[in-house]
Amino acid sequence: MLIAHISDTHIALDTPDSETRISDFERTIAHINALDPQPDVIFHTGDLVQNGRLDEYTHAVEILAEARAPVYVIPGNKDDRVNLRSAFVGASYLDRKSPFITYAIDDFPVRLIALDTLDPGNNKGDFCADRASELTALLSTNHTKPTAVFAHHPPCKINVGPEPWNFVTDEAMQRLSEPLQQSENVIAVFCGHVHRPDFGEIDGTPVTVIPSIATSLRWGEYPEAIKNCPIYFLHSYDPATGFSTASQVVDHQ
Ligand SMILES: [Fe+2]
Repeated sequence: MLIAHISDTHIALDTPDSETRISDFERTIAHINALDPQPDVIFHTGDLVQNGRLDEYTHAVEILAEARAPVYVIPGNKDDRVNLRSAFVGASYLDRKSPFITYAIDDFPVRLIALDTLDPGNNKGDFCADRASELTALLSTNHTKPTAVFAHHPPCKINVGPEPWNFVTDEAMQRLSEPLQQSENVIAVFCGHVHRPDFGEIDGTPVTVIPSIATSLRWGEYPEAIKNCPIYFLHSYDPATGFSTASQVVDHQ
């Protein structure tokens, strides 16, 4: 199974770099569309837009509509649940029964569990008792498939950036990480938010953090030749060896 992982596109319509953000997103989807083989899914781990506005989501939806592979999204701290749901009106995976955008996809060799760590008005993540209950319930419905978990905020210590911890409280982070520790099926956690690459772990389960697709918001050191090139990750699953991750650089086309 092949997962194209993108994050932090931060589509905005009124910033000096608005066109760059839109172009970075468009170029990334075009690059993924040219992959052979195609990924089974494209997963966006949040901060699709900058201000949670419907007109921003309209652009994001238009760009993602060009994707050949199925697309799944979760909210980041800049997203707005109501407007995101309104914009992705045809996305049946966005369960309307919960106030949170939490879901599982069981259509692939790896089960995909998407978590909602949005705390409106706060850049840090939250994971309340209700979300923890949803996660526990999701994990209890399948005990056999290897499972990959997607969350905007990394639920572990991060080694890069200004903040090693990216949740409002230790307790909130533990409400997310403890069910993952207790599950024998969770083999990988994929995140965004930090706008630079990093790797962490939850009790031995690897946590992979992807840089922002928006190159104007990306942090870290990159060779001059790729400073304006978005970077996304391809997570490849092999039943014998688990996940391996390769960076993809979207070159100038
Ligand atoms: Fe972001």
